[in-house]
Amino acid sequence: MRCLDCGARAYWDEFTACPDGPIAEPAMTTPNRPLFDALIDGVPADAIPVADRGLQYGDGLFETIAVVNGDPCLWGRHLARLRAGCARLAIPPPPDDQLTTEALRLTRGIDRAVLKVIVTRGDGGRGYRPAVTPKPRRILGLGPWPSHPDAWATQGVRVRYCRTRLSHQPLLAGLKHLNRLEQVLARAEWDDPAVPEGLMLDSDGLVVEGTQSNVFAVAGGRLLTPLLDQCGVAGVVRDLVLAQARALGLAVVEAALEPALIEAADALFLTSSLIGIWPVRELAGVSFDPDRVPPTLRAAVLAAAIRP
Ligand SMILES: Cc1ncc(COP(=O)(O)O)c(C=O)c1O
Repeated sequence: MRCLDCGARAYWDEFTACPDGPIAEPAMTTPNRPLFDALIDGVPADAIPVADRGLQYGDGLFETIAVVNGDPCLWGRHLARLRAGCARLAIPPPPDDQLTTEALRLTRGIDRAVLKVIVTRGDGGRGYRPAVTPKPRRILGLGPWPSHPDAWATQGVRVRYCRTRLSHQPLLAGLKHLNRLEQVLARAEWDDPAVPEGLMLDSDGLVVEGTQSNVFAVAGGRLLTPLLDQCGVAGVVRDLVLAQARALGLAVVEAALEPALIEAADALFLTSSLIGIWPVRELAGVSFDPDRVPPTLRAAVLAAAIRP
């Protein structure tokens, strides 16, 4: 779908609609190859200056986005989170239409890929102290779609606990900022390809999320997920799940979740932009029935999050 007025595609979810409405066009048949893999400030490139604060200090934010049939999925939600993150870090956000145009330059004609959008505070400042008027840098890159077994989405995954803990920092909680060293340490803890994800606890021993996903439990007819007020990434699919669950009449609780509570749940599942929903079939030796993830919720989220 493409807007005849601005040339952009319709934006795939309820958060962003082209002001003039989408207008159908025939499916694209261009070959499955981009003209270039990355745009830096709108120009094909593959290097950033050494002085970039994203590189120097992790001073920036990113979005990881599923691309399906040429469209970045949940684009409106990703833009909204990026904008909100920029506001919290006082980084002037790139205009939405600029990001949209650049994203579509990369994804046009691509069947399946991963689009990464990074916004850094740009170069300069004095040491850690940021410049008074930063000139943010935007980096958009396209990478290969991860080839996970289909069974992980249908029959569930095995999950472990990570030893690496997430530290509390309410000022950064929820943000998808560029500092990911805790996840890097956690993901280095295991290399069993049959265990695709590990759950991370915070310094109080409460469950927060997976190394690259959010976690939900179904218990007593309610949907539980950790409250992300001290640490963790507020995933766009997490938000979508919460909205869909409420629309389906499920009681939703965001709360501190102890491992014992998670282990006693009727069902567990993980979410992210790249996996949609993965039911958990085993967590550290405890078995779960993937079919107890409410099928209506699963179908609704999959349909909205990763469109075939
Ligand atoms: C640490 C972490 N938590 C949660 C998520 C899920 O976020 P989203 O639903 O926006 O993909 C990710 C995704 O990469 C992540 O890295």
